[in-house]
Amino acid sequence: MVRLMTSKLDIAYEDRLIVEDLSVQIPQGQITALVGANGSGKSTILKTMARIMQPKSGAVLLDGKSIHKQSTREIAKQLAILPQNPTAPEGLTVTELVSYGRFPYQKGFGSMKAEDKAMVEWAIEATGMVDFYDRPIDQLSGGQRQRAWIAMALAQDTEILFLDEPTTFLDMAHQLEVLQLLEKLNADSQRTIVMVVHDLNHASRYAHHMIAIKNGKAVAEGTPVEVVSCDVLRNVFGIEADIVTDPRSGVPLCLPYALEGHVAEAVQQEQQVSEVRHQHAMRMAHN
Ligand SMILES: Nc1ncnc2c1ncn2[C@@H]1O[C@H](COP(=O)(O)OP(=O)(O)OP(=O)(O)O)[C@@H](O)[C@H]1O
Ligand SMILES: [Mg+2]
Repeated sequence: MVRLMTSKLDIAYEDRLIVEDLSVQIPQGQITALVGANGSGKSTILKTMARIMQPKSGAVLLDGKSIHKQSTREIAKQLAILPQNPTAPEGLTVTELVSYGRFPYQKGFGSMKAEDKAMVEWAIEATGMVDFYDRPIDQLSGGQRQRAWIAMALAQDTEILFLDEPTTFLDMAHQLEVLQLLEKLNADSQRTIVMVVHDLNHASRYAHHMIAIKNGKAVAEGTPVEVVSCDVLRNVFGIEADIVTDPRSGVPLCLPYALEGHVAEAVQQEQQVSEVRHQHAMRMAHN
């Protein structure tokens, strides 16, 4: 089933057309990963789907109605977004930031109800930010700050969640923690999650559906098995890669080894490196 889709979207910054004729469907209750090279238009698409940007033409349809024709408050109860480089006012604390997520539910300024407070507390706990709840955002590490913003998006309690590179700045354990949290939110309450991720192996492991973007166009869509292929990686990222099967989950994993068209050099380089390693190992064995 599909609640959210784009129809013939053209998106431009002033006169420069970035996204052209984009028609994609976001499967409801699933995790979708948007992948593509730097500058391919992923953030632009995400911002438009979350109503931060207006398209030049075409529409983002939620239950058949254009989101750009509905009120901010109504849409904010259905869609939340973690932008790529969010900025907070100086001195704002974690709890204050996360409380912003409850604004669509409040009648007047500062009128947080018990359920708003409970949701803020849950979001802070779910993202592992309890120890930092009263710390100013500008005094946190990159990873802690990222988690505070994720908490704000979670506190908005929407059925659809957009996240632009949610694992950037995070160490491996915290990357896993965030991805597992998203997986759990999806599994427990069937939330629809659309995330931009650079790590294809994360996309493959955690997403049910993938959309590969090249120059503002969707060039491959489908399950990770359908999208993570040698042809798509060459076309979208300009890389040659081996595709192996994850022994744990059975999803395709990608091991890049050369830039497109440079296979011979990469193989030669690999042979040289392996020769040096072999000689080093022999020397160590003799010492
Ligand atoms: N505010 C802006 N004004 C003008 N051009 C912009 C603006 N933001 C992005 N662009 C341009 O639009 C294109 C797409 O940018 P976008 O941020 O959507 O890419 P992306 O796929 O998210 O890249 P990355 O992986 O680096 O985050 C790029 O060429 C970029 O330079
Ligand atoms: Mg981006």
